[in-house]
Amino acid sequence: MNSQLLILLTLAPLFALAQTPPPIACPPSSSGVNIKAWRELAIGKIAEGTPQDVVTSIAQCFPTTVPKCLNETKNYAQEQITGEQPSATPTPLTLKSEKDLPPEFLPKDADGNVIPGQVKIPDNIFEIAAAKNWKVVDYKTRSTGGFDGSPNLVLVVLPNWPEAGKDVYLQISPPQDVNHPTNGALPKPEPRTTVGLDTLTVITADKTVNPPVGQLRLMNQPEDSLETNQSRYVWNDRLQARSCTACHSVPLRSISPRGYGHVNWELPMNDADQALVTEINGMMKIDNFSWGTDSAGFKLGARPDSHPYGWAPASSDTRSEAFIRTCFEERQGEDYFGFGNYQVRVDKNPEAQLEDWMKIKNAMNCVGCHDNKVRGYLHEGFSFDELVFKVLIDKSMPPDSDLTNDERLTVLTCIQKEHDLTNEAWRKTGSWLKKQSCGL
Ligand code: HEC
Ligand code: HEC
Repeated sequence: MNSQLLILLTLAPLFALAQTPPPIACPPSSSGVNIKAWRELAIGKIAEGTPQDVVTSIAQCFPTTVPKCLNETKNYAQEQITGEQPSATPTPLTLKSEKDLPPEFLPKDADGNVIPGQVKIPDNIFEIAAAKNWKVVDYKTRSTGGFDGSPNLVLVVLPNWPEAGKDVYLQISPPQDVNHPTNGALPKPEPRTTVGLDTLTVITADKTVNPPVGQLRLMNQPEDSLETNQSRYVWNDRLQARSCTACHSVPLRSISPRGYGHVNWELPMNDADQALVTEINGMMKIDNFSWGTDSAGFKLGARPDSHPYGWAPASSDTRSEAFIRTCFEERQGEDYFGFGNYQVRVDKNPEAQLEDWMKIKNAMNCVGCHDNKVRGYLHEGFSFDELVFKVLIDKSMPPDSDLTNDERLTVLTCIQKEHDLTNEAWRKTGSWLKKQSCGL
């Protein structure tokens, strides 16, 4: 055989391969505008369920370097194929062990020796907090804070600990008041105590990094401590997330004590406690707050592609007058049950008229703040009861709104229906893959 022919025959399959066009035609140039348009096509393929097309096209169109603004799309397509999240760099622990806490939080045995690996809220915290610049508030939740079934909670805040720009929050739950078996209307636990039930939660906030990062821990008492009311907890560094994201959209959550702000049937807190809660809630509001990555490289927090409540595509039917009027017709009274018998019934007023449907439309835009930047997404794993609580019971959401109960019931009905109807539209946006700008 002629040697030139032989070369041609051997190369033929290679030519054939090079000539197979990628499933997504390559962009005509690498300008930002073109790459951005290409990313839309790639996101469309993922939404159609063909992520392999994206991976193949990226390999063919960008054989040497993948443009930065396509990285998320590439990783996400790969994750859709393998089912495995790409591993990320672990976030260093803000508290490396219990020894990073102030010495007052390290329990001692009968001989006065520190018990290693354990932690405890000091018995005299109410007396010493002010002198140490710590903040402590004991209250009764009207929501779902705490893990031990009691409404009584003690929250201790260590500002600028273990160093400036970092804070530590510790929370335990003492038993419910003995003299108020139904947990009564009195907002202050009685007696005031630091004897806790089984669980201690610890949340650290590190504001020295960008984005700021929160780390959540859950600890329990060893049997001997529980039996003798010593309130010692076994320290651990297992960062929690998925079990907390059902109610925490970001690592720290404002507290909603009985008698704070809007009151239902309980008595108001005293002025000093109102001011203290406002101050602590203010400290816990951190923009762009994130969950970081655990020691195994697993990204904590809700999935970024999770479909948020209070989101709708542009000119969505769910924001039309007709849709909102239907929500109004369909609204139902709600029974809310917080921990420790905190019950509120909100009835609809059958005489009510929907006077201003635009008011409802505006209130539905939760994602205006809950955009995973200002505040965490009210993602699909988020408990709807928590939305009910904030909108209807403590009436803190949406902030500074003067909605009537009937309007609040309508907002909730609309948001829930809208979430079911817009899931597919959300998937198609791929908005979680567009954080990085492609430039011009
Ligand atoms: C069922 C809903 C729910 C779950 C799940 C949940 N929390 Fe909370 N948590 C709340 C609520 C509500 C508050 C606000 C306190 C209040 O209003 O009583 C809160 C407040 C807190 C606080 C005190 C305020 C703050 O943010 O520092 C800590 C600490 C805390 N939670 C830790 C955790 C940890 C750790 C997990 C996961 C292991 C978790 N929570 C899971 C509902 C929940
Ligand atoms: C103007 C901005 C803004 C809007 C609009 C808004 N929120 Fe919030 N939301 C916040 C902030 C800030 C917090 C934390 C402070 C607090 O809890 O009061 C929060 C907290 C919450 C929480 C507790 C979980 C968390 O993120 O700490 C829920 C639930 C919630 N909002 C629901 C809603 C719902 C439902 C809507 C729409 C009907 C809504 N929000 C609209 C700013 C907003």
